[in-house]
Amino acid sequence: MSLSVAEQPQPVPTAPRSLIDRLGALLDERDLALVGDRLRRLDALAAEDLAAVDRAIVALPREGTVAIRGAGHLLDLGGKRLRPLCVALAARCGRGFDDGAHKVATAVELVHSATLLHDDVVDYGDVRRGAATVRAIYGNAASIYAGDWLLIEAMELVRQARVGDTLERLLAVIREMILGESLQLELRGRLVPDRAAYLQIVEGKTASLFAWATYAGGRAGGVGDNEAAALERYGRRLGVAFQIVDDLLDFAGRPEKLGKALHTDLREGKTTYPLLLALERFPGLRPDLEQALAAAEGPDEPLLAEVQRALADSDAISASRRFAESYVKEALTALEAVPPGPAREALETVAAAALARDA
Ligand code: IPE
Ligand code: IPE
Ligand code: MG
Ligand code: MG
Repeated sequence: MSLSVAEQPQPVPTAPRSLIDRLGALLDERDLALVGDRLRRLDALAAEDLAAVDRAIVALPREGTVAIRGAGHLLDLGGKRLRPLCVALAARCGRGFDDGAHKVATAVELVHSATLLHDDVVDYGDVRRGAATVRAIYGNAASIYAGDWLLIEAMELVRQARVGDTLERLLAVIREMILGESLQLELRGRLVPDRAAYLQIVEGKTASLFAWATYAGGRAGGVGDNEAAALERYGRRLGVAFQIVDDLLDFAGRPEKLGKALHTDLREGKTTYPLLLALERFPGLRPDLEQALAAAEGPDEPLLAEVQRALADSDAISASRRFAESYVKEALTALEAVPPGPAREALETVAAAALARDA
């Protein structure tokens, strides 16, 4: 189903935002006060790198078939650009952000954008980054082609960057993403509180790309094998934490900040981490919810309220935050193998922001 033009939320024009605005916008005031100085140092280090990535993204074609116009719609809406930031900071753990790192950083944002274009088809997403999704404007097939086009553009950039084994590893990551997403698809609507399956999905759909970003960034910056492995470990742990926080924001976030509706994961029949905890504690909820998910209308307001109560009574939101925190701790431990300096400190700041984010 496509929205008529009048129904389409208008794209928010993306005046180039400073890095500090982007990361600061993720935090509430209390956390911002705590990490404000660190954010300013991070900004001084990587703002120009991200501006260069934005210029490369703006320079991509916007005219052509729906694949190209669709991709342009999503790209022009901005986003947090967290994965390119990871590339830039990892490169700066070595000798810095050169042309190879720039290509890798641009590529990771394109791969991420491609997965969003595909994801919104799979998840029936109508709003993304505060605007109508490409599938809502141009249709599902166009969104798939737009994603495919971006994937190829990304791989071409990584090929041109010629940084070690990053292209081979990107292929492996895309494979892992497909398998993670398809496992999630297979389990959709069956609310099995299976922690191993949950982690396999999250590692595949989200963490593997973060791991690639920090690995490839490090390699582009010429770091050695041990540091590259440590950066990759950091990225993977950060990615898991990031997705757990994303999961809890689906129940506890503010839609106007998130740029997407609440309870989306729930309506899609995904056993996200907070829901998994609530189902472990209140197994009786499962048959009711599964039945509602199988029906065309989906869960009604009283059932959603019951889920929110089960989440509250099982302390699921705070427990999910603590679970994310344990991954951030492991990410920080991995960083200890990287020589101390401004780039490592900035990666620590990113991990703190990922945990505290509310958007
Ligand atoms: C959204 O990623 C998809 C997830 C992995 C949860 P982001 O939250 O990084 O999306 P943008 O790029 O800022 O829109
Ligand atoms: C995030 O999936 C991972 C990818 C987009 C590949 P989600 O379905 O959880 O992401 P949102 O919530 O739509 O951003
Ligand atoms: Mg999804
Ligand atoms: Mg989705």
